[in-house]
Amino acid sequence: TGFQNILVEKKGKVGVVTLNRPKALNALSDGLINEINSAVKQFQEDKEVGSIIITGSEKAFAAGADIKEMEKKTLAEAYNTDMLAQWHDLTYIRKPIIAAVNGYALGGGCELAMMCDIIIAGDKAVFGQPEIKLGTIPGCGGTQRLIRAIGKSKAMELVLTGNNMNAVEAEKAGLVSRVVPAEELLAEAMKTAEKIASYSQLTVSMAKEAVNSSYELTLKEGIHFERRIFHATFGTHDQKEGMSAFVEKRTPTWHNK
Ligand code: HXC
Repeated sequence: TGFQNILVEKKGKVGVVTLNRPKALNALSDGLINEINSAVKQFQEDKEVGSIIITGSEKAFAAGADIKEMEKKTLAEAYNTDMLAQWHDLTYIRKPIIAAVNGYALGGGCELAMMCDIIIAGDKAVFGQPEIKLGTIPGCGGTQRLIRAIGKSKAMELVLTGNNMNAVEAEKAGLVSRVVPAEELLAEAMKTAEKIASYSQLTVSMAKEAVNSSYELTLKEGIHFERRIFHATFGTHDQKEGMSAFVEKRTPTWHNK
């Protein structure tokens, strides 16, 4: 409620955030980012919500950070305000977030998608880091997350040339989990989101945390961390419920505890 740049709705157990600044192709102003942050934080607090979708329009997921807002900024202003710091708030959300991407996901738009847990692309999606053309560089994880997603050579080529990648290339490179016809994107994303939301929220968050730890840890530390969380699931009601439902050939009822 009260949002200027996004639409927020709950579809059953799925929270949906739709970027809605069509005149600027969903360029990510500070205002827009703050609204995304507050919407996803509300969904994190909402016990009914099990997963979140962030999407844009058919023409643009987001055409980057707002160039008109950044244009005149000085180094001192950028540094003193720790420009872009609040963008990372998204990565503190513990419920899974699916980016459903149609059209342009450029610069900060591509980085926003990469901060989500799963990217599903419509067949007209376009990904790129064109900052070099503007005399700057990716500032919200583009030089770090892209290389982990698609490897050094492809990431370097995108960042240094500013060339874009289409949906099929993005899937081949491993940036997106799959490509679907543009008009079916939201329905497909909803199916995936609903499936995730049908499981124990507690276990789902543990699984997300374990997978994400692989970004930060060595293999040995990561496997140790995974093992501890795996052990911890045996202290939950939902592990007992999930396994006894299997043995008793019935559908489990999750209690998120
Ligand atoms: C502000 C933007 C914008 C942006 C588009 N618009 N992208 N405004 N910031 N990033 C505005 C245009 O100014 C225009 O408004 C309107 O949206 C429609 O855009 P057009 O260019 O007329 O549309 P089209 O010809 O279809 O071209 C689409 C496009 C192009 C290829 C996506 O808009 C484009 O190249 N945009 C910039 C992409 C980019 O460089 N992104 C990286 C930004 S830097 P008016 O009012 O003029 O009609 C970045 C830094 C990241 O993201 C740092 C970390 C976050």
